Amino acid sequence: MRFIIIFVLLIVELFANSAAYNRGETLFFAKGCSSCHGPAAEGSSSYPRLAQKPKKYLIKRLKAFRAGKAITVSQQMMAQFANNLNDRNIDDLATFLSQHKKTKIEDVADDYLGGVGS
Ligand code: HEC
Repeated sequence: MRFIIIFVLLIVELFANSAAYNRGETLFFAKGCSSCHGPAAEGSSSYPRLAQKPKKYLIKRLKAFRAGKAITVSQQMMAQFANNLNDRNIDDLATFLSQHKKTKIEDVADDYLGGVGS
């Protein structure tokens, strides 16, 4: 009996995680994050890579930006985009980014790139 309960909890957890991942992916494009951090969250010279960074670290940074902890010009630029995120958005984005699977632009769905990706 105990094994059945553990099994069911595991399945529920897997579904919850993949729902959060998908919501995070949608937010990443809808909130404009991809325009600076790149469609595959790969970053560039002035914008840090976000893909596969630890979830706790991403949450901490996003909450700090949201709380207005931005000193340099580039931090202030970033802070505007964290302003309107709620806790759940931050959690979803961090789930998506920390488990990021699409490390190449070619892997990103055409819907998100508006048809210019391929
Ligand atoms: C206008 C460009 C721009 C947009 C849009 C933007 N960012 Fe950023 N982001 C930056 C810059 C620049 C930094 C580096 C700030 C610094 O100097 O610490 C940064 C830093 C970050 C960091 C910290 C990374 C690290 O390694 O410490 C996270 C997390 C982050 N952004 C997430 C997001 C998310 C999520 C979104 C969408 C809601 C977003 N960003 C939108 C420019 C942007």
